Amino acid sequence: MNDDSSRHHFPTSRLEDADGPGLNPTGNRTMGEIIAARFSRRGFLKGSMAATAISATVSPLALLAADDAHAAAAESAFDFPEVMAGVDADHHVAEGYDADVLLRWGDKIFADSPDFDPTAQTEATQERQFGYNNDFVGFIPLDGADDHGLLVVNHEYTDPHMMFPGIVTIADGKITLADATEDRVNIEMAAHGGTVIEIRKVDGKWQPVLDGAMNRRITAKTEMQISGPAAGNPRLQTAADSTGTRVFGTINNCAGGVTPWGTYIMAEENIHGYFMGELPADHPEAANYKRLGLPEGTYAWGRYHDRFDVSKDPNEPNRFGWVVEVDVMDPNSVPKKRTALGRFKHEGAESVLNRDGRVVFYLGDDERFDYVYKFVTAGTFNPDDRAANMDLLDQGTLYVARFHDDGRVEWLPLVHGQGPLTAENGFASQADVLIETRRAADLLEATPMDRPEDIQPDPATGRAYVMLTNNTKREEANAANPRVENAFGHIIEIVEEGGDFAATTGTWEILLKCGDPSIAEVGATFSTETTVNGWFGMPDNCAVDADGRLWVSTDGNSPSKTGRTDGLWAVDTAGAARGTSRLFYRVPVGAEMCGPCVTEDMTTFFLAVQHPGDGGEDWEGFGRPSYYEDLSTRWPDFNDAMPVRPAVVAITRQGGGKIGVPIDGA
Ligand code: FEO
Ligand code: CA
Ligand code: CA
Ligand code: CA
Repeated sequence: MNDDSSRHHFPTSRLEDADGPGLNPTGNRTMGEIIAARFSRRGFLKGSMAATAISATVSPLALLAADDAHAAAAESAFDFPEVMAGVDADHHVAEGYDADVLLRWGDKIFADSPDFDPTAQTEATQERQFGYNNDFVGFIPLDGADDHGLLVVNHEYTDPHMMFPGIVTIADGKITLADATEDRVNIEMAAHGGTVIEIRKVDGKWQPVLDGAMNRRITAKTEMQISGPAAGNPRLQTAADSTGTRVFGTINNCAGGVTPWGTYIMAEENIHGYFMGELPADHPEAANYKRLGLPEGTYAWGRYHDRFDVSKDPNEPNRFGWVVEVDVMDPNSVPKKRTALGRFKHEGAESVLNRDGRVVFYLGDDERFDYVYKFVTAGTFNPDDRAANMDLLDQGTLYVARFHDDGRVEWLPLVHGQGPLTAENGFASQADVLIETRRAADLLEATPMDRPEDIQPDPATGRAYVMLTNNTKREEANAANPRVENAFGHIIEIVEEGGDFAATTGTWEILLKCGDPSIAEVGATFSTETTVNGWFGMPDNCAVDADGRLWVSTDGNSPSKTGRTDGLWAVDTAGAARGTSRLFYRVPVGAEMCGPCVTEDMTTFFLAVQHPGDGGEDWEGFGRPSYYEDLSTRWPDFNDAMPVRPAVVAITRQGGGKIGVPIDGA
């Protein structure tokens, strides 16, 4: 979710947070044009300043001679007909490809699941159906084949205004929701979490296998175990669980990962919105919770479930904000919250097998001015014995990044007793360091970033790509976050020293500053080969395919911000084409693009279309708030009896073959 206010973007806050030009549906200026206007009001473009401002924002590639520019095009790792950027009610994929809806909210997950009836939802039906707001998507092959496997999908959050009939009133052009009933809360809790489902490609088309033995729904009520150094700590003990090791549910699972041993990682991100109430005065967790914006009380769960009310169960929030690992091969396995990887607003946890056998996880903490982390396992991966890997995530070292202005990156260990992480500073043990990871990282003087999202390592090169989505509240730029008014985000490339992902030093450089490159004041650095369709703002999730090609999905493009919807862009990282981007797929109005997941053979892209229809006020095709009874799109069914439905889409090439290469290269 694009949450530039640092708040969870539920329907109401989403509308309030629109920091674009307002709600005028026609002739609106994009955010880039507004930035340009602000620059000119400040007189930045007068006289010699103009030349400085402009030349500083032009990519070196823009200075290439025409011949070199053609060389850049020729050297691109991608070849497909680009989609036209824009906004409408449907999704669009590059010509020559099919984008087929594989799973929609409410679809059956089991052979005996009830049919979806949006007017008669219950907790029991939702627990047997695909959840809401699909985000991370992972594919775990079965029998080592790329045409049969388990699809794992996070359901990050719920949008009640688009899920339930009869709960919205419009006042002053804004959506107001009826108070949540207990039934509604329980349905929403069942729509959170994740789905594990067997899928198979039949005659070139993917389909769910409803009698798959591993199929499973995980919800906000699924029993989980807390493991690792913080397990059992008194700060994790509650009225319901005096052991501090047993918790129910996982929430706000944004991105995630799949481990080399084939488990599914669900990252808990914006947990603060789920807790309400007031902590007792002078409660010892007050500073800890404040650093996470807890409790924010957007959801009313605490009204019916005491554990989500901090006045009644003050330690429950310490049991969320972790990375969760699920053994998908056993549908009855108890998911584990792996405390060794720290507690913060975890965006995702993509991993790479290091050459020494240890496994390295890259972790973003998605908040303005928060940090980039990585976790290095203590043990090594055993390719011959899956069971031997199952607790690798309980021991290892968590590091936070300091990005030096000279282009070095330093990984600082978050280890109790080292440096300032001592009892004097309130850390009695490693458990305390992990429960308050952010405060520990503050003391280590990590570099505050412009909202770190997904981070993807490329095993072949020793590099990792860091998505930084945006931050318009920065008052002081630094080399790694070079724009004060960073409305469109940027991408950093980390080069680990010697190609060793476990290294504690490396170098970094900015791969892309995002935004409209035709507006100098925005300072975007796409290559000049990038077309008017090819640029984007707000990088969020990403994937690196087996050829090392980078694909970036976005969160927050809109008519008023960038004149386009979110989508999936192919970004060149190597050679003369570096910094060239092109649009491969775009989502319907109001949606965010999540979960890019490409199979190892590169013949399928699984993409998650999240919160379609959540927006459209600033689109001339709609121009008013969108909600269940009056939606800006009814994708993907376009059936008046069906609401808009978040869905996972499978993209394949017509006639089969590898994605993004010329036909003769397929
Ligand atoms: Fe769920 Fe960081 O976006
Ligand atoms: Ca997202
Ligand atoms: Ca986001
Ligand atoms: Ca990813």
